[in-house]
Amino acid sequence: MLDTGLSGLNALVTGGASGIGQSIVVGLASQGVVVRVIDIRSAADSLAMVREVGGTASAVLVDVRSEEQLETAVEDAITELGAIDIFVNVAAVYAAQAVTRLESSVWADLLQVNVTACVVACKKVAAHMIRRGRGSVLIIGSTVVTAPSYAGAAYRASKTALRSYMETLAVELAPFGIRVNMLTPGPFPTGLVRDLPAEQRTAAAREVPLGQREGDVSELRAAALFLLSDKLASYITGSELFIDGGLHLRPLYIGPVEEVRELNQ
Ligand SMILES: NC(=O)c1ccc[n+]([C@@H]2O[C@H](COP(=O)([O-])OP(=O)(O)OC[C@H]3O[C@@H](n4cnc5c(N)ncnc54)[C@H](O)[C@@H]3O)[C@@H](O)[C@H]2O)c1
Repeated sequence: MLDTGLSGLNALVTGGASGIGQSIVVGLASQGVVVRVIDIRSAADSLAMVREVGGTASAVLVDVRSEEQLETAVEDAITELGAIDIFVNVAAVYAAQAVTRLESSVWADLLQVNVTACVVACKKVAAHMIRRGRGSVLIIGSTVVTAPSYAGAAYRASKTALRSYMETLAVELAPFGIRVNMLTPGPFPTGLVRDLPAEQRTAAAREVPLGQREGDVSELRAAALFLLSDKLASYITGSELFIDGGLHLRPLYIGPVEEVRELNQ
């Protein structure tokens, strides 16, 4: 077994109550990392899974749209865990609205969860990591950054903004020995995708060069641990790692023209 060197560190993970975030939480805990989950919904399932692997984790209910709640959660994690060595930003929402129907309140809400919350948390986390002269940050992106999809303007804009922000964060924190990277999933059968119509999921999965299938969250875990490990990824910062079966190399499934006419008529 490869030694990640993560044992004994402390991690703060947003959106760790389900799906991809949950998989990363369990992966970190199985490496001996003490994990604090912040999520708008109960992380009881994640905590039970962490106990099953003999790990340690705790959770607090936080709506990351509230800057006050989020800042308090970061401060509490620093105080109660003693330090934050690892920060993983996973929390995100999706909203399907065609361009002629896009409501500014939906746009603003999505950007608040997906982008602004990450910026607010990183501001506090980065200051803390700079004081300690160490740390590793992982931000979850999406393959949608490579091409537009019908009714996906807000989500794609949010992930594109996150990628750009990640790069700036990486260069600003590099002089302090802090690494910042992005993990970019393709289709996974979790929260943001699970409830899409079956035909849409099948069509999207068919486009994946490697296996024409959705990924399994376990296939993401090792990549997250690798990027977070100072031991394994000591010379990697500002990088984006696609975990998408090669989907980013081909045009993403958009759908028939009739569909988008209907969406915007
Ligand atoms: N599932 C996919 O195919 C896929 C593809 C590309 C990228 N992603 C990205 O992976 C990440 C996880 O997605 P997932 O599919 O596991 O979805 P998910 O819904 O299971 O996970 C998102 C988590 O964020 C939390 N969250 C949402 N709004 C919040 C808020 N206001 N405050 C606090 N927590 C909040 C949710 O409760 C949930 O636990 C997201 O960043 C998503 O954009 C997913």
